[in-house]
Amino acid sequence: MTPAAVCSPEAFAAHLEAHHRLVDEALRRWLPPPDETPARLHESMRYSVLAGGKRIRPILCLTAAAGFGGAGLAARVDEVILKIACALELLHTYSLIHDDLPALDNDDLRRGRPTNHKVFGEALAILAGDALLTLSFQWIADAAALGSPADRVVAMLACFARAVGHVGMIGGQVLDIEAEKRPIDLGHLREIHRRKTGALIGVSLEMGALAVGAPAADVQVMTECGAALGLLFQIVDDLLDVTGDTVALGKETGRDVRLGKATYPVLMGLEGSRSLAREARDQAIGALARASRPLPLLVAFADHLLARTT
Ligand code: IPE
Ligand code: IPE
Ligand code: MG
Ligand code: MG
Ligand code: MG
Repeated sequence: MTPAAVCSPEAFAAHLEAHHRLVDEALRRWLPPPDETPARLHESMRYSVLAGGKRIRPILCLTAAAGFGGAGLAARVDEVILKIACALELLHTYSLIHDDLPALDNDDLRRGRPTNHKVFGEALAILAGDALLTLSFQWIADAAALGSPADRVVAMLACFARAVGHVGMIGGQVLDIEAEKRPIDLGHLREIHRRKTGALIGVSLEMGALAVGAPAADVQVMTECGAALGLLFQIVDDLLDVTGDTVALGKETGRDVRLGKATYPVLMGLEGSRSLAREARDQAIGALARASRPLPLLVAFADHLLARTT
């Protein structure tokens, strides 16, 4: 059992800012250049990835890697972890482009800009999403060429594929659509959230630990912490759709009610949802206490995800 470790709000804010910048610079550098054929596809990919975004998933991955020993490694290995972290952001951005399509949530605003299909048309938005999805696997595989042991890379690819496919994120997106305009119970809602959002957030932490060869017990702690943080993240996303600000969020609020989505505020009310979010935060911190070393930045992350307003 690891004693609770503390990270000051200033230190955490500096950590977030520095890693946000690192991820943004790497994405800009590694994405296909906008003038390379087919230019329109590359413009469309870059448009959504470089539009901003909080970069929560790559920063969680980098934080877990640093927590289990990645921070002091050679620059070459840090580049490996950064590429894996950026792969998570590619996958996430693809999921947003497709989530916004008229056939899904039919949204016009994302990351403070018109959605991808509004600018590039539906065909290109679908294909840019497909290209980001496949490129994310390529970037994880690149870790082997950059010096990461092959068995580690295979382990990361396997858990990533599982998290984002039919048993994970895509399955969750289907359950989300099927639950529209229908009464569902709390267990069902939890399952939707676990898959559509929790799986990718969970695997971001797991891959950070796997990338630096953390022991299996610590990877398991990341799995448990990730499940709680994922749930926390989506409860807050649901809350912000009701209480948040469109300009600050960069996406239109009030969409869930209009689309008849099954959400925590609909099922539990605002106070009930906030209380469940706090429980999820406590669970995440409880899991972190079972890690083999103190992880103060991840503890601070749990608080940050509970308090976020964007
Ligand atoms: C929004 O994710 C979609 C959900 C899974 C709820 P984020 O809130 O992380 O979106 P960006 O990346 O900051 O734009
Ligand atoms: C999106 O959930 C989940 C995925 C993209 C996998 P939401 O539909 O709630 O996300 P927002 O609110 O549009 O960002
Ligand atoms: Mg959706
Ligand atoms: Mg949506
Ligand atoms: Mg939402």
